[in-house]
Amino acid sequence: MRVIVQSDAAAVGRTAARFVATLVRERPTCVLGLATGSTPLGMYQELIRLHREEGLDFSRVVTFNLDEYVGLAASHPQSYRQFMHTNLFAHLNIDQRNTHVPDGRALDLDAYCALYERQIADEGGIDLQVLGIGTDGHIAFNEPGSSLGSRTRLKTLTSETVADNARFFGGEQDVPRLAITMGVGTILESRRCLLLACGPTKAQAIRDTVEGPVTAQVTASALQLHREVVTVIDEEAAALLVRRDYYREVERAQELLESGGLRRLVPGQSTS
Ligand code: F6R
Repeated sequence: MRVIVQSDAAAVGRTAARFVATLVRERPTCVLGLATGSTPLGMYQELIRLHREEGLDFSRVVTFNLDEYVGLAASHPQSYRQFMHTNLFAHLNIDQRNTHVPDGRALDLDAYCALYERQIADEGGIDLQVLGIGTDGHIAFNEPGSSLGSRTRLKTLTSETVADNARFFGGEQDVPRLAITMGVGTILESRRCLLLACGPTKAQAIRDTVEGPVTAQVTASALQLHREVVTVIDEEAAALLVRRDYYREVERAQELLESGGLRRLVPGQSTS
């Protein structure tokens, strides 16, 4: 797992947007997996800027969101469909028919979840999955104890997640208790994952995810089993990482590799 530590949330957003933008330029028909919540907002703002100022073209991009609250119609102000419309889709040249957010009002939930999985497969799978992380270590709404092989399904939110998300609603009493969520297994099938985290409340979850054991009690830790994960976090979220200095060295080496300065990495080969 690659770990990139940035100074603050704004830098996390810019760095994350660079990964997405590079993919969109290389593969204009790419399939993006998207997340809601506070964390990806900076990345979405930067993508909107790149679209407006540099013509980043989303016209053929396909998206799948991770989750949606059960019971909320797409038009509900707190639905994740509305969140995505307000914070991203409305500002891009994306074809709304190519955007997928689970339907929180689906009547036959099992059949609907199976359909969502099929839709992802029919598009050829997710090229890059953007992820936030819950304070309890969840990815999407895969709460502690979720099977690491799980697929899109119904999930009950923990009281911690309900409390965390109450800020988007009138209070805890208004937060739905159930969600449709991609499973951990669904996420692990993405070709690449981009995990984002900012702020001190995410420090323990990040430590458990990056340096702890792989466990269903911290579903983000399953990302250790994925072969291409980039974790972009701010200093506060990185505060409890034991191998922080090493991750910085790896990034310095990565920069040298990308800038063609490989010889400076090999002892005795330095030209400067
Ligand atoms: C949202 C999602 C969640 C959030 C997580 C962090 O689609 O899947 O896992 O990413 O709860 O939320 P924020 O970013 O609001 O701290």
